[in-house]
Amino acid sequence: MALSLKTTVNGMEFDNPFMLASGPPGTNAKVIAKSFELGWGGVVCKTVSLDASKVINTAPRYGKLRAREDDKVVVGFENIELISDRPFDTWLDEFRQLKKSYPKRILIASIMEEYREDAWREIVERVQETGVDGFELNLSCPHGLPERKMGMAMGEDPAIVREVVGWVKRAATIPIWAKMTPNVGNPVPPAQAAVEGGADGISTINTILSVIGVDLRTLRPMPTVEGSTVPGGYSGQAVRPIALRHVMEIARALPGVPISGMGGIETGLDAAQFFLLGAQTVQVCTGAMLQGYEVVSRMKEELIKVMMDHHLQDIRELVGKSLPHFSTHAELVQRQKAAKAAKVGQARDAETWKGEIKKEVDSLSTN
Ligand SMILES: Cc1cc2nc3c(=O)[nH]c(=O)nc-3n(C[C@H](O)[C@H](O)[C@H](O)COP(=O)(O)O)c2cc1C
Repeated sequence: MALSLKTTVNGMEFDNPFMLASGPPGTNAKVIAKSFELGWGGVVCKTVSLDASKVINTAPRYGKLRAREDDKVVVGFENIELISDRPFDTWLDEFRQLKKSYPKRILIASIMEEYREDAWREIVERVQETGVDGFELNLSCPHGLPERKMGMAMGEDPAIVREVVGWVKRAATIPIWAKMTPNVGNPVPPAQAAVEGGADGISTINTILSVIGVDLRTLRPMPTVEGSTVPGGYSGQAVRPIALRHVMEIARALPGVPISGMGGIETGLDAAQFFLLGAQTVQVCTGAMLQGYEVVSRMKEELIKVMMDHHLQDIRELVGKSLPHFSTHAELVQRQKAAKAAKVGQARDAETWKGEIKKEVDSLSTN
């Protein structure tokens, strides 16, 4: 059997599990088409809403955290960008066009609305008519939108998550993924609420609330807009350990629920770790912004190399493989004790008997 990166999630057939995450990489039909041509298995478009006139961005709106050793290397990225400011009707035309030209590529519409059932129903009904394959509900944008009770303001409250996902489920005829915020202590209750509300899958993580730094020439926090700023969303490789932990916790708590994992994926080796901790697909935003859309070819090659090294034929064999190796701290201590005792037992005489005979006898005794 040839080595395969194909996977099917909620009935959606992915040529490979690499998707572009909602954000600048999927801002219009032209760049989404380019991504499909370059081999991305799917794209989640930039989040759309019914009334784009309410969305007004600032410039600048990004800030980078650079490596101390080499300031060309970006280790973390903050943004205060809002959702798409392009008209809803333009998006509907583009979704139709894309599904006509690329019927076999997976196109997921990221949607966000105000806290009203009629608004969510309307956006779901109008978008799904275009033929998109699925929805991702943005319940997690951490800046700007929470001021309008949207995004993270919904996603951090399990009761609201359950309710909003329920509204969407009643109107949707295609799969829905709930995109979760990492800005909570325990990621399980909101994810669990999303599944109870009817979500078919979970996407995680959105960005982490952050302040990227203070400009020491002007003493103003960044990104500086007319002298001031707001805390923004942190992404890029610095967030990967946090993202891996969120994916792991949700995968362990909700076995069988498909997870689309993201946060700091820049290589196929990064992606492999998300699969090992339970993700079935992965998404990339900052990595594509910093390295270009072409990066997907290298990512696929690197992932295939990991599979070959472990004699795996199918990407699905990787999913969750490392999950059984999480435990409690108390059990780690127990295991360590047991391993030490076994080691003492295995030691050869010359290593065991060094002169402190009383202690040495104790170390070989069970009581
Ligand atoms: C500039 C920028 C804009 C983003 N816009 C959106 C958005 O409109 N909707 C959304 O769900 N997530 C958005 N995100 C979050 C990403 O989809 C992703 O969840 C997060 O950045 C972590 O992945 P990464 O480290 O690969 O970027 C945005 C991220 C960035 C960096």
